[in-house]
Amino acid sequence: MTSFDIQAIQTQLQSKKPRAILKAALENFDNIAISFSGAEDVVLIDMALNIRKDIQVFSLDTGRLHPETYRFIEKVRQHYKIDIELLTPERDSLDTFVKEKGLFSFYEDGHQQCCGIRKVEPLRRKLSQLDAWITGQRKDQSLDTRNDIPEVQIDSAFSSTEKQLIKFNPLLNWNSAQVWDHIEAYQVPYNDLHEKGFISIGCEPCTRAVLPNQHERAGRWWWEDATKKECGLHAGNIKK
Ligand code: ADX
Ligand code: SF4
Repeated sequence: MTSFDIQAIQTQLQSKKPRAILKAALENFDNIAISFSGAEDVVLIDMALNIRKDIQVFSLDTGRLHPETYRFIEKVRQHYKIDIELLTPERDSLDTFVKEKGLFSFYEDGHQQCCGIRKVEPLRRKLSQLDAWITGQRKDQSLDTRNDIPEVQIDSAFSSTEKQLIKFNPLLNWNSAQVWDHIEAYQVPYNDLHEKGFISIGCEPCTRAVLPNQHERAGRWWWEDATKKECGLHAGNIKK
């Protein structure tokens, strides 16, 4: 990457379709990776491979994902013949946390500490090696926390004084139905949990299936306030 005028690119990408946003991301940055949760954000991988073959993909292996999600990540790896880097939590802090608080403390005192150790620290480690990252965030996933995010942004949560990190959100302007149309039209593999009533998929203890017409976010951290349902991966989305 040479110089990157974020304002100019954001103006160009405003309200654009996923492919245009992904193309801008992959053309402007070599050292960029897709953050793949093991859910319907698989469409990012499917589209990115049509733009560039040497894409980097990583997943945060919290140790608490559903068996179906682990199987799906492996399926995607084989289907597209790509490497998927699995990032695991730092062992000492995880051991200490589990010893002190057990395996389900988030139901008592909120998900921040567990997510901090199992997701945010490994993500920070990975992002410190990148110039930019690509996420599957969409506006329709949460009116409370995702309605105002831009197509491309400086990631204030993970930039450092030495380096500015750029974050692309290519699926921003698609809704769930458009994502699923793409999955069907291009025969993209998907997580078996979607056939069991799950829409949004995170860790097993913190995700549940939703009822017909319930919002997808209702299945995540359901014991917490909707305005707090961000785990630190996208901390900048929470309004102060
Ligand atoms: S979360 O912050 O609430 O867990 P969500 O499940 O909506 O996020 O996913 C939004 C995007 O965050 C995903 O498309 C992906 O880019 C990133 N993400 C979420 N969970 C993971 C994960 N376990 N590994 C890698 N990326 C993830
Ligand atoms: Fe822990 Fe739940 Fe966060 Fe997963 S989603 S890291 S299990 S609090």
